[in-house]
This record gives sequence, C-alpha cells and structure tokens, in this order.
Amino acid sequence: MTKVKVLFVCLGNICRSPLAEAIFKHKINNKNLNEYVAVDSCGTSNYHIGDIPDPRTIATATKNGIKIDHYVRQLTADDLEEFDYIIAMDRSNHHNILRLSTKTTHADKVMLMREFDSLGRGEEVPDPYFGDERGFQEVFEILDRATDSFLLHIERNVIR
Ligand code: 4NP
Repeated sequence: MTKVKVLFVCLGNICRSPLAEAIFKHKINNKNLNEYVAVDSCGTSNYHIGDIPDPRTIATATKNGIKIDHYVRQLTADDLEEFDYIIAMDRSNHHNILRLSTKTTHADKVMLMREFDSLGRGEEVPDPYFGDERGFQEVFEILDRATDSFLLHIERNVIR
C-alpha cells in the first residue's frame, strides 16, 4: 500500500502548521502507523523560508511532550498533486492554496483543520504570531483535538 500523504499549511510555517505536523507525527508514531502515513508542513508565504519554528512554538511543543523538527518551506503547485490531504489552518490559507491549483479535483483534498474539531467545527486555527504564549497553548489544544479526529478519519477511511 502506498502511504497517505498529509500536508499541514499555514502562512509562515513557523507557528501553527509545524506544530500540527509535530503533534500528528507523534500520534502516528505512537500508533505504529509510520509505514502508512507521511506528514509534512509548509507555508503559503515566503517570509521565513529555511527558518526553524518560532521559539514559542518550540517551547509549547516541548512543554507538551512533543518533539518538533522542521525547516520552513513554501507551498508549491506540485504539492497539490503530491499530497492526498492538504489541511489549511485558516480560510486565508485555504484560499491561497487553491489559488495555486490548476485542476478542479484539487479542491476535494484541501480542507480546514477545524473541520475535524468537534469544539468549533469549521472555525479557524487562530494565528498566535502577534499574541503571547497563552495563544500558543490554545493553538496546541485545538490542534491536539483536531488531529485526534483527523487521525481517526484516516484510520477508518484510508488505512484498512
Ligand atoms: P503561522 O504564523 O502562519 O502560524 O506560522 C505566522 C508566522 C509569521 C507571520 C505571520 C503568521 N509573519 O507575518 O511573519
């Protein structure tokens, strides 16, 4: 079976999407699903290409027992072909992802992270960049819930 490929996307790729990637990888690892699922993240912007995550992202991940290891990259048109699930953190990311798309079929695989969050379905993952540390913990909790249900979705619908 080929791996299902998951891409988490935000604006800068230093706060929300690398945290989503790290949390999801942690869960995939704990469930021994590495051979079935590949995970990556990127940003729609070029603001931070090559950087490591924001220090507050690293601190929040570490505090919650999650290892985070990522270098920023920018979303490319090829990603829309390559990945099976492209998970946007907010509506602006969602819009900018689809702007790179050349096929109507791509729309089916681009989703909002909080479509999978039972507490706030369809809402946005707030951008914590201009706020304080509490915002990062709030983002962590949203992503922890949403990745739990997303993983269940993958287990039920993709890995059989
Ligand atoms: P992210 O947060 O999209 O969750 O990585 C941001 C990071 C950087 C900027 C904005 C949002 N910025 O404007 O540089």
